[in-house]
Amino acid sequence: MILLGIESSCDDTSIALVEDGKRVLSSIVSSQIDIHKLYGGVVPELAAREHLVNLRHTYQACLAEAKIDTASIDAVAVTAFPGLLPALLVGTSFANGVGAALGVPVLGVHHLVAHVCAVFLDHNDLAEDRSRFPILALLVSGGHSQLMKIDWDGSITILGRTLDDAAGEAFDKAAKALGLPYPGGPIVDRLAKTGNPEFIKFPRARLDRDKHRFDFSFSGLKTSMLNQIKGRTIADDELPDLLASYQAAIVDALVDKTLDAARYCGARSLALCGGVACNSSLRAHLGAGADKMGLKLHLASPKHCTDNGAMIAGLGWYQLRAAGPNPSRFVEASASAPGELRIPFLR
Ligand code: KG4
Ligand code: ZN
Repeated sequence: MILLGIESSCDDTSIALVEDGKRVLSSIVSSQIDIHKLYGGVVPELAAREHLVNLRHTYQACLAEAKIDTASIDAVAVTAFPGLLPALLVGTSFANGVGAALGVPVLGVHHLVAHVCAVFLDHNDLAEDRSRFPILALLVSGGHSQLMKIDWDGSITILGRTLDDAAGEAFDKAAKALGLPYPGGPIVDRLAKTGNPEFIKFPRARLDRDKHRFDFSFSGLKTSMLNQIKGRTIADDELPDLLASYQAAIVDALVDKTLDAARYCGARSLALCGGVACNSSLRAHLGAGADKMGLKLHLASPKHCTDNGAMIAGLGWYQLRAAGPNPSRFVEASASAPGELRIPFLR
């Protein structure tokens, strides 16, 4: 079955065609970064307008790249929650229109669960291999940082989440304070490569072990960075050390909590997904930690880490198979969380 996946929850308009939840036939991303850069972050109303402009040509480019006719599309999947509501409304309206025109089902997809499914796009056998479950997934993006346990039956348990800023926000806000362009994450990653991560000992949050053993907190770290740079100009040759030290504090927290949670829940493998999963230091350190524990770390490829339509089509495929004879034909953008989180594997 071929699914069209549509993503418009934040500042990327992305459409992909994916066969059987695994084989990506085409995937197009229209970025809005140049617009939001001017404001140092994503402006929801502007994002919605840009999605409206971009969706049509992104759809056409996606069909052209896959070289398939619309008659081959079996269903449409679209991000319904969570995200910027004006942006979600544009994507879901477009999806409903395409679904109605083609006479195919339209499925609403949970964006965060779809980020986890991005890993299955790059590791095709993982979802079918019982010996690798439960999987502990670290999802780190611009809006979320979560530790999710995925069981063989597809049920998802959130073991930890951020109490304040998401990991991506921690990167983006520090970069903004330093006058670096939005989004800061990739720039910090690049500049930190030549820096000394021990140059400054940034604080690591100490959270109550009973209540918040697997939760994250990055707001204190951000404040510490603001205090470091307050009232002075950072010399160009100081920047890599400063950023490497700051990045090390984020990566340490993410790696420590992930490995602790993996031990706690008896994970048989790890997965890393979401935009921050592109970070080279996080990929390397989590990989080394997993090796020591004898666990395999499954990385989503960078193009499937940041927001993309392929992961939406990926999860949509599981939902379509599980939906039975009358799949939904109309989807609404949700302002609140739908019930339990799960990937409806058919076991
Ligand atoms: O998943 P994503 O594309 O969008 C959301 O759902 O939020 O994630 C975007 C986030 C931004 O905060 C961006 O700075 C961060 O991912 N990011 C990175 C890197 N590449 C993207 N953060 C650190 N290092 C990177 N290489
Ligand atoms: Zn995302």
